[in-house]
Amino acid sequence: MLCTRGNAALLAAACLTALAACGGARSDAPPRDDSPVAPTPPTPPPAPADPQVAAGAEVYTKYCALCHGPEAKGYAADNAPSLVSRTFLESADDTFIARSIELGRPGTAMAPYGRDLNGPLTQREIESVVAFLRDKGGVKTAIAPPAPPAGDAARGKQLYVTMCQTCHGDPSTRSTGVHLANPTFLALASDGFLRHAIVFGRPGTPMEAFASRLDGNQVADVIAYMRSWSLPAEPTKPTGPAPVKDGPVVINPKGKSPTFTARDRRFVPSVQVKDALAKKQKLVIIDARPESDFVREHIPGSISVPHYELAKLDRVPKDVVVVAYCACPHHASGVVVDELLRRGHKQAYVLDEGILFWRKQGYPIAGSGAASGAAGIPTPPPHDHAHHDHAHHGHAH
Ligand code: HEC
Ligand code: HEC
Repeated sequence: MLCTRGNAALLAAACLTALAACGGARSDAPPRDDSPVAPTPPTPPPAPADPQVAAGAEVYTKYCALCHGPEAKGYAADNAPSLVSRTFLESADDTFIARSIELGRPGTAMAPYGRDLNGPLTQREIESVVAFLRDKGGVKTAIAPPAPPAGDAARGKQLYVTMCQTCHGDPSTRSTGVHLANPTFLALASDGFLRHAIVFGRPGTPMEAFASRLDGNQVADVIAYMRSWSLPAEPTKPTGPAPVKDGPVVINPKGKSPTFTARDRRFVPSVQVKDALAKKQKLVIIDARPESDFVREHIPGSISVPHYELAKLDRVPKDVVVVAYCACPHHASGVVVDELLRRGHKQAYVLDEGILFWRKQGYPIAGSGAASGAAGIPTPPPHDHAHHDHAHHGHAH
């Protein structure tokens, strides 16, 4: 999928992951002889027998596959991690998984999906997704991984900076791996969970098993360092009213239409959209993320049309320039733009760098979290290589 020959720009790690994900294509079987037996036709995977698993599969496909991939192995967008690796499912208990879904990871593409935070999923639906992931990964219940001994944060810092930071960032920077300094993550992850991930890694992903490079005390030191990051907790209850359902759709209805210079006729740089707003030009801006993220922060004047609720596009007039955005930064917005083009819109664009970059530039932001905690969370690198994006060339900031 993404490891096309000759594309040296791709991260080696991403390629390894993709290859691992495609491992099913490789066969260890001996070469076929001339036996008269006809090859057995591939059998479709049996439908899950457990109704909760079946329900979870449906929820998963609608809301999660966009980033975590159809098989939940991750890396379809924005470095979303695998949700079915053995070491993850055996150390993450159901509460960790369910709360991660419910609360999301503020400041990343992982939105809160729980109803309490204006997300789309009920508690029951979240539980069904957990059952689906456990079924898919073949790990029915988590073990209680042993906690490390007390460690030394100063020693841990040296190890972290040299061995972990390039992938995991720190409290002020994000990188390509799961953001370990995310306050919601740290609140949910036990020391045993962290130790298990570091010692055994996440097979089939860029996260190696550090058992051979760090002894037990060094692992404890790294964890002590991570615990020394004191970060403001994220709210676990709604921080603002739900979005107005029938507010105005068109921004500056009396203004002139903007003329965007879009890369590949699809991706509009943020600066052009910011200028169009400043010049009071006429356009529609669509937030393609779950409503929970929209409530927390959005581009002023934008409307909420999550990538899984495309019927809401009925409200968007065809003769107005439309820009859609998300955090990932092209996938959810891309789904919305494709649907607009399918419906006959002539000028529908993806906001190139996404809303996390927009916020980092200090461009206008509205919403309940705009002035508070969420705004302080670092932005990921401008774009990642680990997904089959439409185009990356000529894309420098
Ligand atoms: C727009 C992309 C996107 C969508 C859609 C999405 N996720 Fe995520 N998810 C992410 C990213 C990115 C992370 C890692 C965030 C970080 O860097 O900390 C993540 C993290 C997670 C984690 C934590 C995993 C870990 O190892 O700590 C879980 C669990 C999870 N997602 C489940 C889901 C489920 C279930 C859905 C659907 C209801 C979903 N996600 C939808 C992008 C997404
Ligand atoms: C080459 C990049 C890379 C390096 C170096 C690296 N990691 Fe990771 N790490 C990852 C990725 C990618 C994941 C997510 C894997 C997945 O899909 O489950 C991860 C997952 C983790 C997790 C689990 C997070 C979760 O929510 O499931 C922890 C904890 C972790 N790493 C800690 C560390 C520590 C500590 C170090 C240094 C000793 C380190 N990592 C070095 C890439 C890296």
